[in-house]
Amino acid sequence: SWRDFKALPLLEKGDYFQGTPPHTLIAQQFTREKLQELCALATRIKRINKRRDGANFLKTLLCDKRAMLYFAQPSSRTYLSHNAACQILGLDTMDVRDSKTSSEVKGESPEDTIRTFSSYADMIIMRHPVGGFAERVAWMLAHTNREIPVLNAGSGADQHPTQALLDIYTLERSFEKIGGVDGKNIVFVGDLMRGRTVRSLAWMLSLYKDVKLYFVAPEPLQIGQDILDLLDAAGTKYVVTQDFASTMPIADAIYMTRIQDEWDAEGESSTIDTSAFSIGAEHMDIIKDTTAIMHPLPRRKEISTDIDNDPRAVYWRQMRNGMWIRAALILTTFGRQDEVNQYYDNY
Ligand code: CP
Repeated sequence: SWRDFKALPLLEKGDYFQGTPPHTLIAQQFTREKLQELCALATRIKRINKRRDGANFLKTLLCDKRAMLYFAQPSSRTYLSHNAACQILGLDTMDVRDSKTSSEVKGESPEDTIRTFSSYADMIIMRHPVGGFAERVAWMLAHTNREIPVLNAGSGADQHPTQALLDIYTLERSFEKIGGVDGKNIVFVGDLMRGRTVRSLAWMLSLYKDVKLYFVAPEPLQIGQDILDLLDAAGTKYVVTQDFASTMPIADAIYMTRIQDEWDAEGESSTIDTSAFSIGAEHMDIIKDTTAIMHPLPRRKEISTDIDNDPRAVYWRQMRNGMWIRAALILTTFGRQDEVNQYYDNY
């Protein structure tokens, strides 16, 4: 299985950013220091981009690079925000948004497909239904003479590290004036078993001091034991419960998710009662004035549109943050972040 690839030297290093090339594959590769660097850089890029001379400067940074966006699963936000981030930094982009439009339909293996992409592009940004596939691609590229960085934009029901980055950035910004992310109660709600965003974010939050995570889900959709084991190893406190109402008043952030029924074998999640795992106007008096209501989106009925204009509903801002943090990540991947930091200091 793909997990055998974990034994390979590329993945033994632990710090993918020190690799040649640097990859973004799993949430566990990030350190708190790296998260803070990326968040600060995202804000700088956003501010620089506001002025025409700044936007023109940013566009020069990676204008000699091309990115391949290979999305073998549907996406709106992740695809568009990576594409927009590339445009901000001057990268040209190419894409395959459906495996049916590539030569995979003629029987070409995914590995050969990726190798083909790497002949034309300087970076692969990829989403794939197979968990761990991005790691496998990085391993495979390490054994070619066309080794280029891989950014995992969602793999199976397993990992979505760049989503977790934008979630961290949103939490950092939301709690800027109330002591930061340390010590906060973060409540995850919905399909936590198959929600790859929750799995990646839970691990990144374990890098923060005294955070407490609440996993609120119907029993069949509860968070996986592998994530709880990681939290135990990191010494992060958590509660596993089905009682959303009792967590609302203590939540500093409520992270809603939809039922991921695309992973159902035979529509089994349609029989689960999820009515108690939604939020709407009737709950707004119970939660704190400073609570950040988040969602990776797309949503269904778990967040009522009635609360979209409540200042605590940050999910649209969260989505926009994705473009800036992904620009920061791409720039860092190519080692050009110092130029932005110098430009900003003289801005
Ligand atoms: N959050 C997220 O991954 O959204 P998309 O599926 O629209 O990319």
